[in-house]
Amino acid sequence: MNRKITVVGAGFVGATCAQRVVEKDLADVVLIDIAEGLPQGKALDIMESAPVEGFKAKIIGTNDYKETASSDVVVITAGIPRKPGMSRDDLQATNAGIVRGIVEKIAKHSPDAILILVTNPLDVMSYLALKVSGFEPRKVIGMAGVLDSARYRYFVARALSVSPDAAGAMVFGGHGDSMVPLTKYSTVNGKAITQLLPAEKIEAINKRTREGGAEIVGLLKTGSAYYAPSASAVDMLKSILLDEKRVLPCSVYLNGEYGINDVYCGVSAMLSGAGVEKIVELELTDEEKVLLERSARGVKENIKKLGLCA
Ligand code: LAC
Repeated sequence: MNRKITVVGAGFVGATCAQRVVEKDLADVVLIDIAEGLPQGKALDIMESAPVEGFKAKIIGTNDYKETASSDVVVITAGIPRKPGMSRDDLQATNAGIVRGIVEKIAKHSPDAILILVTNPLDVMSYLALKVSGFEPRKVIGMAGVLDSARYRYFVARALSVSPDAAGAMVFGGHGDSMVPLTKYSTVNGKAITQLLPAEKIEAINKRTREGGAEIVGLLKTGSAYYAPSASAVDMLKSILLDEKRVLPCSVYLNGEYGINDVYCGVSAMLSGAGVEKIVELELTDEEKVLLERSARGVKENIKKLGLCA
């Protein structure tokens, strides 16, 4: 039997996620949205590409949560995106209401699912989903580090004129201006970029990565990025569905790792069929530790505004 996943939100991120999942034949997809006709129309359009693309997996579009029942993994993308000049945190009040309602329904219909949060502000929404679902922390994961690292890898690859997949990167911290690129773990063909690029160039890449989401919002003017975010969510999904146990940077619940407690923040985690199989602690410089703690504190301040903490 095929695995079943649900994608909540049939906007650009959600629909592109659904498309990538079926094109890779990873699972059957239920695409759900409150807008009548939107998920049904996009699902039918994607299915009509199946004879040409040659995939076997199926998508259905729906407005009814009963159809999502017993999903293995649920990717939550619903919410409002940023407009030029807005920070991800400006979305919090609106998106918290949307995500809360979704998670209540998902937890009822798919009590054993693993949740991947994509809605911004990502780290805060992941914490909210953990509390509202009552799921174990290993089953509630936020997508951000794969995206931030992908941007970093692309900029490094361009600077060195190598193939994008030859560049590795690790970006930690909250998905916002305080994210922490770990230079030591950024490599090209096994060599640290500190040996390949001048310090000013690395700093420029750090800055461009931190502002990577805003750069796209500024160009698009309506809406935010979706090709790289959907690819990143599907990469996490793949490690979970195929039990690959790959170590990816993700927003996970920290319970003492790096001396940080009761908050979601981006670190490297092994993703398996169980969700977060384990958090893989990397050795950080003193400066990186300080930046990670500061980033986590920023997320915690925003979490407090949800009124969920003890
Ligand atoms: C970005 C949004 C999705 O970074 O947060 O593009």
